[in-house]
Amino acid sequence: MSDYRKYLRNQTLPGMSEMETDMMKGLPIPAIEKPFPEDAALIDLPSHEECRATSRMSLADAIANRQSRRLFSDEMLELRELAFLLWATQGVRGFIRNGLVTLRNVPSGGGMHPFETYVSAHRVDGLAPGLYRYLAIEHKLLPLFGERLDLPRRLTAAANGQPYVGKGAAVFVWAVRPYRTEYRYGDDSLKDILISVGHICQNLYLACEAAGLGTCATVAYEQDQLDRLLGVDGYDEIPLYLAPVGRVTSDAPQP
Ligand SMILES: Cc1cc2nc3c(=O)[nH]c(=O)nc-3n(C[C@H](O)[C@H](O)[C@H](O)COP(=O)(O)O)c2cc1C
Repeated sequence: MSDYRKYLRNQTLPGMSEMETDMMKGLPIPAIEKPFPEDAALIDLPSHEECRATSRMSLADAIANRQSRRLFSDEMLELRELAFLLWATQGVRGFIRNGLVTLRNVPSGGGMHPFETYVSAHRVDGLAPGLYRYLAIEHKLLPLFGERLDLPRRLTAAANGQPYVGKGAAVFVWAVRPYRTEYRYGDDSLKDILISVGHICQNLYLACEAAGLGTCATVAYEQDQLDRLLGVDGYDEIPLYLAPVGRVTSDAPQP
């Protein structure tokens, strides 16, 4: 086995004495959000307040009921439900440092929030099947590519053939833009990024339970296929975690 355990160790924190990050050099902070065309036809989502009203369960019950769910029905997801899940996982609730840093519903090391959320919508009321990106600041969806891409089949193929992935009414894929974290933490960004994306997916689990939906964290996937599917370069932007969501057909444990 390789010496991978070294990556579990902090490299230079807390002193960061041997490292001069771009932030320390006074370079400009990277953009909070990946840019998108000014004339893009964005899709409005139900408001944050409407999203909150989607929860039908106490936090304690959502925690107690949470499990990985891989058996999805063919039913549609309401747009309000999808918006609730997006809000729960990346929703922006404010800005600090002259609008250069966001405060969100999940924590992120240094508040850098280096993730972009892609949604492959297969059965969502009011959304044409296709790939979208969630614009957390605007709380809107940016349409990317349409149905012709056969997304459910390609997602399952990219997820090492795991059939439940393509069967979701929608599939969340989180991609990291590493420079946002590197700007602040340099070589210590790896743990920071991986731990932060775990918080996002945990909120997805709990929000799904609260809305009568289900999900399953998925890290078994083939990198190049997922890069191609999202249309990202796999270096400046790297998909690293995915999770199908849908209405579930069984409450039996599916570990
Ligand atoms: C980081 C991570 C990666 C996972 N990747 C997969 C996966 O690729 N395929 C899968 O079927 N389940 C995956 N799971 C789900 C776990 O198998 C599941 O959480 C575990 O079996 C315990 O079941 P529970 O979530 O119902 O408690 C993953 C979970 C985590 C936290």
